[in-house]
Amino acid sequence: MSDIRHAAVITGASSGIGLAYAQQLSQRGYDLILVARRKDRLEQLAFTLEEHSRSAVTTIVADLANEADLRRVQGVFSERKDISVLVNNAGVGALGPTSKVDVYSLENLVKVNVLALTTLSKAALSAFKARGHGLLVNIASVIAFGPSATAAAYGGSKAYVLNFSRSVEQEYTEGGITVQTILPGPVKSEFFSASGVAPPGFPEEHFMSADTLVETALRAFDMKERVTFPTLADTASWAEFEGARKKFYKSVLMTGKPAARYALAK
Ligand SMILES: NC(=O)c1ccc[n+]([C@@H]2O[C@H](COP(=O)([O-])OP(=O)(O)OC[C@H]3O[C@@H](n4cnc5c(N)ncnc54)[C@H](OP(=O)(O)O)[C@@H]3O)[C@@H](O)[C@H]2O)c1
Repeated sequence: MSDIRHAAVITGASSGIGLAYAQQLSQRGYDLILVARRKDRLEQLAFTLEEHSRSAVTTIVADLANEADLRRVQGVFSERKDISVLVNNAGVGALGPTSKVDVYSLENLVKVNVLALTTLSKAALSAFKARGHGLLVNIASVIAFGPSATAAAYGGSKAYVLNFSRSVEQEYTEGGITVQTILPGPVKSEFFSASGVAPPGFPEEHFMSADTLVETALRAFDMKERVTFPTLADTASWAEFEGARKKFYKSVLMTGKPAARYALAK
């Protein structure tokens, strides 16, 4: 049996989905590098995980919206040769009508949900390429498909995560590198309170627990799924959607001419 240990970097590990990833990747035998702003939460989690598993846990207290902090986290991918998983999970909602959300919250959302995710994805993929293996997990959301008047920047950021992740997935078709995009529906976590809004008024049973979400996402990974909708019952509907999307994309891509309905009156 090999004694080589692998480490997973998890952003946003201080609560919700990130915390559940930390617990379940620890059960799968990974050492962990946990990133978030709340030092006390990270240290408590590291203590508990080290007590109950073989995982060695490192914490990095970092605000991913802060450039110097982001560079520090980026640096671990060149410093540590044992990292074989990155879970880009940290995210914020800045929910509410855009006219009512302050501009700093919107900018912060772009920095965390888009810029940090992009920077860390690139750092991880470069390291994985050099080592010949690795798993990048990017947490999007089903809202990537649902423009919403109370989540404009959030929905836009998750559409970015989906398209970005699927695009880099196409770059790494050979070798042992995997990109998995997760698109959860509503999950019970601190997400809505962190955004300063009440959770949507869905019935309680419409929220998945963070533990179940992560269990499902890991099972989907084991099944070699690359785009995972944990709540999708009918996989044929995704195949149909993809078929329609490809047909539509082809129809608008390279005709070189305006459509006939835009013909200028002579
Ligand atoms: N909950 C849902 O319904 C739902 C649905 C679909 C997708 N998602 C996505 O799932 C991911 C996790 O969300 P969650 O539901 O688990 O919410 P959560 O409990 O609020 O967790 C968010 C995590 O992100 C971290 N974070 C936020 N801003 C950060 C920053 N500037 N720098 C570093 N870390 C930061 C938080 O840690 P600190 O505050 O300690 O920094 C926390 O650990 C997000 O990307 C979210 O968009 C959530």
